[in-house]
Amino acid sequence: MKSRVQFVCQQCGANYSKWVGQCNNCGEWNSLVEQVVENASDKKSALEKGKLSGKTLEFVKLNSVVPSDEKARLTTEFEDLNTVLGGGILEGSVSLLTGQPGIGKSTLLMQICAEVAKSRDVLYISGEESAGQVRLRAQRLGANSERLNFAASTSGNDIAKTIESGEFDLVIVDSIQTLAMDEISSAPGTVSQVTNCGNLMIRAAKSSNTAVVIVGHVTKEGTLAGPKVLEHLVDVVLNFEGDRYGGFKMVRAIKNRFGSTNEVAIFEMAETGLVEVQNPSAALLAERTNTDGSVILATLEGNRPILVEIQALVTPSNYGYPKRTASGFDLNRMNLLIAVLERRTKLKLSDKDIFVNVVGGMRINDSAADLAVCMAIASAVAGRQLDEKYVVFGEVGLGGEIRSAFRPAQRIAEAKKLGFLNAIGPRTVHDPFVLPAKDLRETLNSFLKQA
Ligand code: TYD
Ligand code: MG
Repeated sequence: MKSRVQFVCQQCGANYSKWVGQCNNCGEWNSLVEQVVENASDKKSALEKGKLSGKTLEFVKLNSVVPSDEKARLTTEFEDLNTVLGGGILEGSVSLLTGQPGIGKSTLLMQICAEVAKSRDVLYISGEESAGQVRLRAQRLGANSERLNFAASTSGNDIAKTIESGEFDLVIVDSIQTLAMDEISSAPGTVSQVTNCGNLMIRAAKSSNTAVVIVGHVTKEGTLAGPKVLEHLVDVVLNFEGDRYGGFKMVRAIKNRFGSTNEVAIFEMAETGLVEVQNPSAALLAERTNTDGSVILATLEGNRPILVEIQALVTPSNYGYPKRTASGFDLNRMNLLIAVLERRTKLKLSDKDIFVNVVGGMRINDSAADLAVCMAIASAVAGRQLDEKYVVFGEVGLGGEIRSAFRPAQRIAEAKKLGFLNAIGPRTVHDPFVLPAKDLRETLNSFLKQA
């Protein structure tokens, strides 16, 4: 029998018999990888015969089943992370922790292990680091429990078997991209390895009621290196994002079968590992100096209100084509807002370079950031300042009108808590704390003052 090869898109998992430059299914370029199809003819023959090889399932009355214990959760030392998880790591659940290399995934998991191993049996499996290296980190993080075990392995089969043994309450697998299964010939990190190893571990976790956390590296674009498919298979997908070098790092649930996806846990990397930031707004505002181009935005990270400084810098363009750079904010959105500013106010921006920065390495994903970005740019251009005791929130429409924002009450509460006197926000918010903003032009005129 001749073995057949096929080309599988590493982005979406679509397969092709011939190599193509762009995947027809998801549109990704240069994402196809050659793979050998195992026993193609065997699989085919069963299907061709038209016979069903399976057996009838055994089923039970659902109301007679004992529900799994919602309370049997492995809690971590991090309160906010427990909230993100919906109360802790559920027994028998499989979670995927994704993030860029170096963000702190291994550190976070070792800290979780340290806590859980105080009362449970934990196994940390690494395919990337040796026992000595992991021990060094464990020592630094104070993970000294007798019940914390380590194994170095890259075999999907061995790891699944170990999980299935039920000897451990929690198993960490660092990382999925290093694993390979004997039955599959393609390299570690490819779609078939990642999904098949993932499946094997999930089955083992469910049958032995073992909690498993799998680490997955993501590419620069933010997608799981290897396939997206894995995200559909696991129970919980946690994303670890933020700046690799200093600044805040956030853990957010993108998917959670046992909790909400609106919570975030905010961390900072310290000498002794990750520490939760209890009051991010205060930390973000600590170094603020009120100059032109600086505006405080009342934003939301999931359910958490956060005050963050938006800075804009505007300089004359040296070349014909003005430069626009955004850090922590969507560049397309910024260009759109610049167009609105040009058209709806008297500001002239086409001959200026504009730089916008969100302080503290935060990435803003909130349409209510529009007004703060517009005000920061206008403030920088005009050399005028916003009162340092004001916060800003509101979406800006193409007509220059200020539109309503989600959960204004929480934004207001956070601003009050940090001693701000007023908010500039949409007219639809009826609260004496909020000074109504009708449209961009009027708002800029009435609130930006000559320093
Ligand atoms: P790591 O957890 O290995 O990242 P990942 O597993 O996501 O690739 O480590 C992230 C960085 O954190 C690394 O550059 C070293 C640093 N670090 C500290 O600053 N303090 C510490 O206590 C530890 C363990 C790591
Ligand atoms: Mg690591």
